[in-house]
Amino acid sequence: MVGLFSRTVVAATVRMPKWFVGWVSRRYVAGSTLDDALRIMKRLSSEGACFTVDVLGEEISNMDEAQFFLDEYVRVLQAIRSSNLDANLSIKPTAFGLLIDKEKGMANIEKLVRMANEQNMFVRLDMEDHRVTTDTIQAVIDLHKQGLTNVGTVLQGRLFRTLDDINYLETELGPAADYRICKGIYLEPEEIAYTGYQDIVDATNASIDRMLAAGAYCSIASHDLPVINHATSALESFGMGPGIEDPRTNSGDARDFKGPGYEFQMLLGVRGPLRRKLAAAGHRTRVYIPYGEKWYEYSIRRLKENPTVGAQVAKAFLMPWTNRP
Ligand code: FDA
Repeated sequence: MVGLFSRTVVAATVRMPKWFVGWVSRRYVAGSTLDDALRIMKRLSSEGACFTVDVLGEEISNMDEAQFFLDEYVRVLQAIRSSNLDANLSIKPTAFGLLIDKEKGMANIEKLVRMANEQNMFVRLDMEDHRVTTDTIQAVIDLHKQGLTNVGTVLQGRLFRTLDDINYLETELGPAADYRICKGIYLEPEEIAYTGYQDIVDATNASIDRMLAAGAYCSIASHDLPVINHATSALESFGMGPGIEDPRTNSGDARDFKGPGYEFQMLLGVRGPLRRKLAAAGHRTRVYIPYGEKWYEYSIRRLKENPTVGAQVAKAFLMPWTNRP
């Protein structure tokens, strides 16, 4: 159940002037251009972080817009390589046209993943709402079967189906499966997802255990201590942790074998001290870097989809000591 405070924050935010929303969101969005994203990554590199870049956008309404995303991600790929940054790509399958024309959408995704493969760069298919869960997972499996193993999926702890999805991915891809596990930002119906905080934490933690048991690479994307603490103990019980090299840097051809291994991932601007503490302890940490012209539309839509995000942003703004960038 979404609290009154969260709904009030969302109602107030959509009425606020764009400049004010922009001022608040400066901390969570790198800026409107690729140069902004590159600048932030160069700065945060000194904190021991690596990155994944997200070009912001609304769900598209025609395939011309999909072409924009494809072109922009190619620019990002080239810029990451020429700047020598430790970064990869996070893409939203619907921005490539998956919900408009599945075949063309998949062809667009494949084009980018193929180009990234030539540059030995990893591409993460972000997980959107339940309309595209099955297709997104299948897309990753199909790409692997074509030899494009530089791609991985995201699973959402809140969905009832997630443990079955891990089993399916393990059967199809074995340890080459490369996961990001998160709670899931979309407030899904109670018929298919957990809705209470503790249930979501427990299910997310169970997924982490299952991914590690499968010997796959597991990116833990959370700022929540009960998830992070569970992950660090689980890693220990699987003989992983600081001091053990990332198998991707040491496995010869990093594209052929990725697991076992892990990293922690956090959003730009959220719980920086916690991320820096994990990095200082020797854990690999990755920051999700969103940028793009459509930062305003994207922020407002996200707030409406999940009003608790609005409450978290308001809390960070009004009580900065609870969440520093
Ligand atoms: P929780 O929401 O309980 O947050 C813990 C604390 O962190 C909060 O109390 C607050 O202090 C802070 N916090 C968290 N989010 C904040 C925010 N936006 N602004 C300000 N403070 C915040 N989801 C999805 O459905 N598909 C996906 O592909 C991804 N990808 C993804 C990548 C990365 C790198 C991350 C970190 C997250 C995602 N997510 C996602 C989002 C994820 O599912 C989830 O909604 C958020 O991470 C919030 O959940 P936490 O586990 O952080 O816990």
